[in-house]
Amino acid sequence: MPTRIFLTSGDLMADRRYDFARDLQMKGDLPGAADLLLQATDLAPNFVTAWFSLGDIRETLGERDGAITAFREAWAGDPHDRHGASLRLMRLGAEPLAAMPQGYVKVLFDQYARRFEQALVDDLGYRGPELLFQAVLSVRAAARKPAFFKRAIDLGCGTGLAATAFAREVDHFIGIDLSPRMIEKARLTGFYAELEVADMVQGLRAGPDGSADLILAADAMIYVADLAPVLAESRRVLAGGGLLAFTAETHAGEGVILGNGLRYAHAAAHVREAVEAAGLTLPLLEDRSARNEDNAPVPGLVAVATKT
Ligand SMILES: C[S@@+](CC[C@H](N)C(=O)[O-])C[C@H]1O[C@@H](n2cnc3c(N)ncnc32)[C@H](O)[C@@H]1O
Repeated sequence: MPTRIFLTSGDLMADRRYDFARDLQMKGDLPGAADLLLQATDLAPNFVTAWFSLGDIRETLGERDGAITAFREAWAGDPHDRHGASLRLMRLGAEPLAAMPQGYVKVLFDQYARRFEQALVDDLGYRGPELLFQAVLSVRAAARKPAFFKRAIDLGCGTGLAATAFAREVDHFIGIDLSPRMIEKARLTGFYAELEVADMVQGLRAGPDGSADLILAADAMIYVADLAPVLAESRRVLAGGGLLAFTAETHAGEGVILGNGLRYAHAAAHVREAVEAAGLTLPLLEDRSARNEDNAPVPGLVAVATKT
């Protein structure tokens, strides 16, 4: 689900060249489109959207160096990196792996909010919340404890699918998400007592020590490169015996990678190490896929960590 945003150059001629370039791109004339985009950036050197599109086209044409130059211009021209040019540079191996730009996540999900459930649940067979639900029930059953929670925090709550799955087991749900439009959708479910537009780590930081007995992150860690800060804050906010349950995408290698879909994949051993380094225990870590892509399950993990 690529973002498609247009940030005007402020120069009518340059914006027109961009429109013509998009027409040519749609018709499959990529070299012609690239030529027009270059003309647009000659007219307006800080035309971020044109630079980004040029990078995209050059990458498709196999012109790696030219793509890197264009993505660098797009990144330099927008401190929020709303197009995600830095991610494209990471995927091309031109930048080290780093955090996902928050401006990009916000644009991506604000654009996606209206059709999110149809696209993810219906088209991609999304099942993250059900996986978390089953995993939490099984960890609670093994510990001979009831699966009932007074205060739960849903990180990257999106439209509220996880709260919907856990609604009968939770008294007070708090949702945190970077995207205001996703939060608007979550509000409509009526399952959240509190909703906050914030980065998940910042949102957790506002929570008192030991104030939650369940933290969920369904399909949200795929936008988090470094798990350490969110795991550390989760540990602080969880009460003793509390659970952190999350899904992740995974890969057969080591550590964290940025996949073709511009989502991070965390190796199972890396998840285990990160959870244990945060001082949590990991009673459950299983291979489970939360969604399909190209008609095949995307390799994934479901994890339940506990604060002892
Ligand atoms: C694929 S959606 C999943 C939504 C929901 N958890 C579900 O299961 O349907 C990922 C959500 O995580 C949010 N997100 C990504 N990175 C985030 C971050 N650092 N802090 C807060 N929310 C984030 C996005 O805005 C998006 O709504």
